[in-house]
Amino acid sequence: MSIFSVPSDPAPGFAPVRLATIRLAPVLCVAMLLCGCDAPVEHYPPNQVHSLVVSAKLDAPTELAAEDTTAALEAWFGTPIEPRWPAEQMSRDDAKSLVRLENLQRAAGPVYSDQDNRHFGLFNEHCVTCHGVSGGGNGPASLLQNPYPRDFRPGVYKWKSTERGAKPTREDLMTILRHGAPGTGMPSFQRLSEDDLQALVDYVIYLSVRGEFERRLLTEAVVELGYEESRPDDDASLLTLATFDQDAFAMEVARDVLDRITGQWVDAPQSLIAVPEETPDDAASIARGDEWFHGPIANCVGCHGKQGGGDIVTFDFDDWTKEFTEGIAVTPTDREAVRPFRTAGALRPRQIYPRTLTDGVYRGGGDPQTLYRRIVAGIAGTPMAGRSVADQPSDKELTSDQVWDIVHYVRSLDEAKP
Ligand code: HEC
Ligand code: HEC
Repeated sequence: MSIFSVPSDPAPGFAPVRLATIRLAPVLCVAMLLCGCDAPVEHYPPNQVHSLVVSAKLDAPTELAAEDTTAALEAWFGTPIEPRWPAEQMSRDDAKSLVRLENLQRAAGPVYSDQDNRHFGLFNEHCVTCHGVSGGGNGPASLLQNPYPRDFRPGVYKWKSTERGAKPTREDLMTILRHGAPGTGMPSFQRLSEDDLQALVDYVIYLSVRGEFERRLLTEAVVELGYEESRPDDDASLLTLATFDQDAFAMEVARDVLDRITGQWVDAPQSLIAVPEETPDDAASIARGDEWFHGPIANCVGCHGKQGGGDIVTFDFDDWTKEFTEGIAVTPTDREAVRPFRTAGALRPRQIYPRTLTDGVYRGGGDPQTLYRRIVAGIAGTPMAGRSVADQPSDKELTSDQVWDIVHYVRSLDEAKP
């Protein structure tokens, strides 16, 4: 199976897939046998965890809103066997063509090849065991992984070239598919054809847009449309989305939500972090980088430990976990308090650890440009914050030259480097 393939020729800055993936292999096989993953699921499972979170946040019932959101979603986005792209509900032309329906149809549905040896059911074949049918990151093989597979539905990605709050570009998603995330369960799909990869990228974007639309629509239903225990009147009912009643207020609200999300995807390339020309990577730069790394402005040492040795004890969680725990005053380690969310499909809260920087394994790429962007943007969804870059040195902000020094220092920490 392709998911265990190890790229023979990793790109510069990418370590080959390491032990973590190989150790996972038996676990995955068992999980796949248990679930019979080739049988396609007919409906996308609703995001019940998020529905509970919204209910707790707004102190309001969300069952009915969730039920109608699910119906509306199926009308607009179809099913895992027959996905749809609701282009006619979007106002921007570039959003309409953000993904190609033909690609979605190839990535979705059951696994088979046609006479021309074109592959179908790509997501089912390669991704679903980890990322789940709706891209919730909680597929059957997710349980024993650390970090967990990405939940695409909040629309937040870690390994990208854009500003922290922006969506990744298509190229970012292609890069992660080609190289995987070394040191995690996310394998490399280098062996797949360019066409297959493009179809998968479209499908990830589709699942992400769909999942984020589901999340935001639910909140709008309660806050804007007046959903509580009973359904609001016709004009504000989400059922108008399923009947495509163009004049209804609910339709207007939903189209707005969809425009905002798809707009962010279309505009992602405009949020690319500019990388100034690299300064010389010499001993002097590394020595300065050492100073900044351990100094008060960058304070990398505060999480990564002295010389990036990872000896600091931190107790923190990623944003995907915080959403159903700290975000609504639930202690992640309180099993009883977490139980309802676990029952609704949430994975057991797992701590996130700052990386040990001496082993040279970079999940999101270790080439200088990528590291420059990583330091400036931080890592979205994790405790590693971004940093603004100033023109002049000060006691508050780093300059781009100083960021380059840190990049050189971090790269010099790799003990395995020849
Ligand atoms: C063996 C499990 C596994 C399989 C199979 C798998 N993934 Fe992943 N994937 C992961 C894990 C784990 C992460 C999280 C990595 C991290 O947080 O650093 C991830 C992360 C991602 C990300 C997010 C990267 C980011 O920037 O945040 C994307 C996109 C993705 N996977 C797409 C796919 C696609 C598409 C497939 C199928 C072609 C696939 N994955 C197959 C485990 C898997
Ligand atoms: C608040 C804590 C915190 C601070 C401060 C911090 N980091 Fe991180 N860093 C993390 C965490 C957590 C991760 C792991 C994220 C993950 O893999 O999901 C990480 C990961 C990394 C990675 C690995 C990226 C990859 O592709 O795998 C690098 C490199 C890094 N940090 C460098 C730095 C540098 C340089 C600084 C200072 C400018 C810094 N960090 C400051 C918490 C922090």
